[in-house]
Amino acid sequence: MLKKKSLIGLLTAVSLLGVMLTGCGSTPAADSKEIKIGGNFELTGGVANYGKQTMNGVQLAFKEANAAGGVLGKKIVLVTADNKSEPSEATNAITKLITQDKVSLVMGPVASSNVLATLQVGQDNKIPVITATGTNTKITVDNGKVRPYAFRSCFIDPFQGTVMANFATKTLKAKTAVIFIDNSSDYSKGLAESFEAQFVKDGGTIVGKEAFLQKDQDFKSTLTKIKVMNADTIFIPAYYEEVGKIAKQARELGINVPLIGTDGFDDPKVVEIAGVEALNNTFFSNHYSAQDTDPRIQKFVAAFKAEYGQEPNALAALGYDAALMVIDSIKRANSTDPAKLRDALEQTKDLQVVTGVITMDANHNPIKSGVVIEMKDGKQVFKEKINP
Ligand code: PHE
Repeated sequence: MLKKKSLIGLLTAVSLLGVMLTGCGSTPAADSKEIKIGGNFELTGGVANYGKQTMNGVQLAFKEANAAGGVLGKKIVLVTADNKSEPSEATNAITKLITQDKVSLVMGPVASSNVLATLQVGQDNKIPVITATGTNTKITVDNGKVRPYAFRSCFIDPFQGTVMANFATKTLKAKTAVIFIDNSSDYSKGLAESFEAQFVKDGGTIVGKEAFLQKDQDFKSTLTKIKVMNADTIFIPAYYEEVGKIAKQARELGINVPLIGTDGFDDPKVVEIAGVEALNNTFFSNHYSAQDTDPRIQKFVAAFKAEYGQEPNALAALGYDAALMVIDSIKRANSTDPAKLRDALEQTKDLQVVTGVITMDANHNPIKSGVVIEMKDGKQVFKEKINP
């Protein structure tokens, strides 16, 4: 009996010592040689391409920073967790990154609904969450109140919705539009609202609204209904898998009007699924174009191509930029303490990045420019740049 007790005592003492030695307390170890940043990304599932591209952008920026001597003299490393493109898994992923990996800050997820599913965990643990790509307004402002620990480094959906409504009216001369909404996505629902508001303001009429769900395969019955509405354009705020299928099936049904959309169109998979022909007469708003001759953009495009052997899309550029914003905040905070990082992120000002200049507004949203891209024979063609 006595023997057993002392054995337990010894084991407890040994494990306590272990905790002390490895520095596994509840806060990030201040004296470690590494700065650990969490990456909560869609690495598998419905929008896995988005997650991988964004992560590649982040990794490139960290690699460059480390090659240039690190951040506060330490190596900055990304610890990733796969959210499988699902909100519930995104909640699990952030919980793991914070409680097990003890990261000081979490980057990601990409898709707005997945980002929204992580914010309470960030807030409860007082760990900043920064999405490079999530454009839905509710990410940073909840019922009129700014979420203290939530940030983004991209523009917001009311900007994209407005840009595409104006594009439809002014460039396409559209007087009528149908909106085809992904009802499983906060991103899609928010964009439908802002597009409609601006299109009506511009004098246009929304002649119909139809809905689908992510993972749907057959859109033909709804598209047949839409065809009869005979609108000048169809606005489709959605992600690449569904965009590809909708474009293909719409053209098969003889719907030849311009199909317009937003950043969710930005993936080579759209071309693979829809085919080159179906995508002609398709336009979407985006965060940047790799064809932009701006030297900063061309330098990034070259570095990314050298690293990964492919052209960076907007997600890659946004991931890179968010990483620059994180590095900038750590340097200004001169610390990896999450509360200090939060303050530094809030004070981000005139930070020159690939996709523009980041100055945080009072709602934790940067004001940035956007672009409109046209699909021509399977290639993205940079059409115009739009300032906020
Ligand atoms: N803006 C999208 C969202 O909020 C994510 C995205 C960004 C997709 C950039 C493609 C390109 O869900």
